[in-house]
Amino acid sequence: MKRAVLAAIFALAGCSEKPAAQADGTKIENAFRGAMQDRSSKSPPEALFVEKCAMCHRQMGMGTVILARRMDPKIAMLEARTDLTADLITAAARQGIGNMPRISRGEVSDAQLSEISNYLTKGSAK
Ligand code: HEC
Repeated sequence: MKRAVLAAIFALAGCSEKPAAQADGTKIENAFRGAMQDRSSKSPPEALFVEKCAMCHRQMGMGTVILARRMDPKIAMLEARTDLTADLITAAARQGIGNMPRISRGEVSDAQLSEISNYLTKGSAK
């Protein structure tokens, strides 16, 4: 059954070389039925997000899994959100939030954080 669904997804996606990222970021399956995280990026800000945040905030990351407990799993990945603001992102990163440890300026500079923030808010950061 799962195979049939995957086959349908591939057919719909025009059979791209990569499995389409599934909407629910808490689980993902590749063609070899192994777990994996999509670490790809198409722009420098996205690459920065992948380097600094994605291990926790893409597929199966601790952040994704924990956020899925208090919101729809479909928007548990930060990149799927449309309601993020620069203020929330800055506060989460600099003070930590719940199970997320604070991230120092040595690890992610203010300039890098604002780049990531712009990426996550699709440039509409207030
Ligand atoms: C070590 C893992 C880890 C890393 C690295 C990490 N986070 Fe998180 N993040 C979490 C966890 C876990 C939560 C959920 C906190 C909770 O509710 O307990 C979270 C929550 C958040 C939230 C709050 C979302 C909400 O709606 O409440 C934001 C925003 C956020 N992270 C942004 C970032 C950004 C930006 C980065 C990279 C600069 C980052 N995080 C790196 C683990 C991480």
